[in-house]
Amino acid sequence: MNHTIVELTGIKVYRNRQLTLNIEQLSVAAGELVAVAGPNGAGKSTLLQVINMLLPYQQGVLKLFGRDISQTGREDARCNSSMMFQETLLVNGTVYDNVALPLNFRNYTQTEIEEQVAAALKNFHCQHLAERQAKQLSGGEVQRVGLARALVYQPKLLLLDEPFAALDTATRTAILGDLKQVAVANRITVLLVSHNFNDVLSFADRVVVLADGRMIQDDCPEVVLRRPVNLEVANLVDMDNILPCQVETDGREAIVRLAGGVAFRQNKPVPVGAAACCLPGDAVYILNRSSALRRQPLVTINGTIAGITPGIGAYKVRVESSSLSLTMRAPREQATGLISGSQVEVAFNPDEVQLIC
Ligand SMILES: Nc1ncnc2c1ncn2[C@@H]1O[C@H](COP(=O)(O)OP(=O)(O)OP(=O)(O)O)[C@@H](O)[C@H]1O
Ligand SMILES: [Mg+2]
Repeated sequence: MNHTIVELTGIKVYRNRQLTLNIEQLSVAAGELVAVAGPNGAGKSTLLQVINMLLPYQQGVLKLFGRDISQTGREDARCNSSMMFQETLLVNGTVYDNVALPLNFRNYTQTEIEEQVAAALKNFHCQHLAERQAKQLSGGEVQRVGLARALVYQPKLLLLDEPFAALDTATRTAILGDLKQVAVANRITVLLVSHNFNDVLSFADRVVVLADGRMIQDDCPEVVLRRPVNLEVANLVDMDNILPCQVETDGREAIVRLAGGVAFRQNKPVPVGAAACCLPGDAVYILNRSSALRRQPLVTINGTIAGITPGIGAYKVRVESSSLSLTMRAPREQATGLISGSQVEVAFNPDEVQLIC
């Protein structure tokens, strides 16, 4: 059965008399790994603080583990949830002492403490740090120990407010990989605030995007990445191409006009007031005569290669026509054969376009 672990209905939070969180409905099921994204000041920390019962809400209902926390659910929820912040404060003493702390508070027996601390340290590969003084750890080690401490009493809900943001990419990726493994194995529900879309893609199976305290998109990471609902989300995911356009609707079909007379049809619903096309760079191709892609419904543009930026996985190639500038992502073996200043014909499939207001 799919239990709902977190459920917010009509939640409103005012800070300094400003409405900073306004969530109509958000449900998170047991075991879901949810990323919370959004620009600075969007209300991500506020949302996590409300769910962690650190911050009161002025309207609405918050249910944790199926129980309304304004009624009876508060103590139950406290025992079953844990939160980590960007700064993890470890107390004086050894790593072992720090990880044992939540168990001491909860009156576990000495044997239980030894077993659970050992298991938690092992989960996050820090058994070797057990006897080290907590104040002498590196940033990455602190966050590993912080995770071991957050999960040592086996909570079912983990709230993470950017705890890994200051770590280098390799350390962050490794820690998130370990956390995902532990969360999946133990069916822990995780809400992770992150500004890094690579982390979101590798960790989460759902992304909730906030802006001005409201949820503006709630989807799987790839959809958010490829089909942002508005300009704010498009900027957040660093969309390669956001092209101004005009849309003429004619019954069930729409004609989208880009600069320079480039036009194509869209036969899916178009948002009212659509004014820009989002197009991921890997949806733009260089055409050659034998290209099998020619058989697809394509929009083609002749342009000049204006810049090539190397990257792992794909190179970024900028192609400019007299009126349009397109960024495409090309595999290295193709990109290294391209010459800046040369003429190319590029194409994209109109189905890959996301229209936004
Ligand atoms: N302690 C506070 N008192 C009053 N207003 C606050 C307080 N903390 C945050 N706010 C305001 O609430 C709004 C949401 O802030 P919040 O910290 O939730 O954003 P965020 O999405 O976490 O941003 P960031 O990405 O910068 O961490 C902002 O307008 C902020 O100024
Ligand atoms: Mg924040």
